[in-house]
Parts: sequence; structure tokens; C-alpha cells
Amino acid sequence: MSHIAYVNGRYLPQKHAQIHIEDRGHQFADGVYEVICIWHGRPADYTAHIARLNRSLRELAIRPPVSNAALAFIVKEVVGRNRLDKGTVYIQINRGVAPRAHVFPGAAVKPSLIVTAKHGAGPADAVARAGVKVITLPDTRWKRCDIKSVGLLPNALAKQAAAEAKAYEALLLTPEGTVTEASVSNAWMVTPERTIVTHPATSSILAGVTRGRVLKIAREAGYVVEERPFTLAEALKAKEVFLTGTTTFVMPVVRIDEQPVANGVPGTVACELRQRYQDYIDSLTADVSGSAWDA
Ligand code: PDD
Repeated sequence: MSHIAYVNGRYLPQKHAQIHIEDRGHQFADGVYEVICIWHGRPADYTAHIARLNRSLRELAIRPPVSNAALAFIVKEVVGRNRLDKGTVYIQINRGVAPRAHVFPGAAVKPSLIVTAKHGAGPADAVARAGVKVITLPDTRWKRCDIKSVGLLPNALAKQAAAEAKAYEALLLTPEGTVTEASVSNAWMVTPERTIVTHPATSSILAGVTRGRVLKIAREAGYVVEERPFTLAEALKAKEVFLTGTTTFVMPVVRIDEQPVANGVPGTVACELRQRYQDYIDSLTADVSGSAWDA
């Protein structure tokens, strides 16, 4: 089936959808994005994604090109036109098209809006059941990782290094040995006392929407949860390590570099949270009111 993309006011077959060579997203990575999981045609945590998108835009002083209501209409339309049952929607907003100059263009330049769809959501069950290996790398990114910028070269390099090492992800480390997050997901550990720990939502990480959802789920399930930095040394001694993200869901980590995590099999906490996250996205289907799209 050919994919339909939305580009600045038009829905087009993806192969005919184009951006201008002087698009600032292309020339300066001067834009922000969101990836939203669609499960049985419904978005997971749509409101939180749109809130983060608007925050990223504010931080970079990019004007939203359309209202939240218009954006919800467009995203819904892209989901419908692509007959997306389980998949992801990608939204990019960048500062628009202008002759190349570092300084921002004038107010007459309208930001660009692109929405695309991809079939397939979440990792294969077998992968999550077995747990995954991760590698560790220095976190070489800029100091505003809280902004979901399209400037993803360090993330892409880290993910490629993980793939070359036959690993699922790369944990990113500060010079002091703190685990900030991973290349496309947030990182968590479970202490020997069964406290769940994840890095606080500072400018050193992206405050993942899945991270927010899993924090809520974990607290509701009665776990003690701490948002504090943790080191690689702690993670290597942890009872469990796991990852969360829109494309990762909740993923148990069973090996860090060449060392097994605990006894090298997925832990009970990660498996329970994974199931509870699955229950959350399954519950979206029951929401017939359409409120899943409110932002
Ligand atoms: N990335 N950290 C980073 C660096 C990320 O790129 C992502 C997600 C996350 C998890 O955030 P969320 O739970 O909101 O998906 C954490 C998306 C999926 C991507 O770039 O494709």
C-alpha cells in the first residue's frame, strides 16, 4: 500500500511528497518532531505528545503553523488515509523555507508541517520476552536534550554502533559515569531493594512520554519510584535494567556490554510494567468517545 504524507497543506503519496532544498529543517536541523504510537487506530498519550511538541516549539521560538485542533484533524486524517491500525505517526515542524542564513527568517516565513505514517508498532513479543543487550557510549549530544530536536546525528551514530555490536540500544554516559538515557529510549534500573530509578527530567534527557506513562503506572502499582541520576556502576549491580519509549514500549535489558544484568533474564518488575503498559494501550480501543485525540 502506498503511504500518504501530509506536507504543508497537502496530502500526497509519500513518493511525491517533497520539501524545499532551503528548508531549515534540512539545512540547520532547525525543527522539532514527535513520534506517536497508534494502536488499533488510536494514539497513545496524544495529549502528552502535543504538550511536549508545543514546549519544544516554544523553547526554539518556532510558531506553531496550525492550531492544536487542526493538527489533531491532520494526524487523524493521516492515520485514516494510511489505514494505520498499529503503527507510528511522525510529526515534524520546522522553521520553514528561507535563503540559507543562520539568523532566523522574518515573521513572513511560515513554519513547515510534515506528518507521515509508518506501519508496525512496538517491538516483537519474542524480543521483549528474551530481553535485550545494550552497549555503553559517551553521551556526545548537546546540552538541550529536553527539546525533541530533529538534530539526531549523535543518536543515529549511537544506534548504529549498537546495531554493529548486535545490541538493541546504546546507554549514553556522562564523563562521570551517569546513565542519562539511551539513543531512542529512556533508561531505568531496579535496585536490590526493588526501588525503580530513572534519570530526572532535566535538560540532559528527553522527558519521554512513555517514561511519564510508566512512572504513573509504576506508582499506581505501588512501587517506590525515584527520579534521580544513576551510574553505570549502579546499573551493573542492579536487580533489573529496562528501557521505555514510543517504539520500545517497556523493554527488559539482560546484558550491558559483556556483563549480564543480575542473572541475565528479564526481571519481574520490567515484565509487570511491560504488561501494564500493554494493558494501557489495549484500553485505547475501548475509548469510543474520540477523546484520545484531545490536546
Ligand atoms: N524517540 N530519549 C530519546 C533520545 C528519544 O529519541 C526517545 C524517543 C525517547 C523516548 O521518548 P518517548 O517515550 O516520548 O517516545 C527517549 C522517538 C521514538 C524517535 O526518535 O523515533
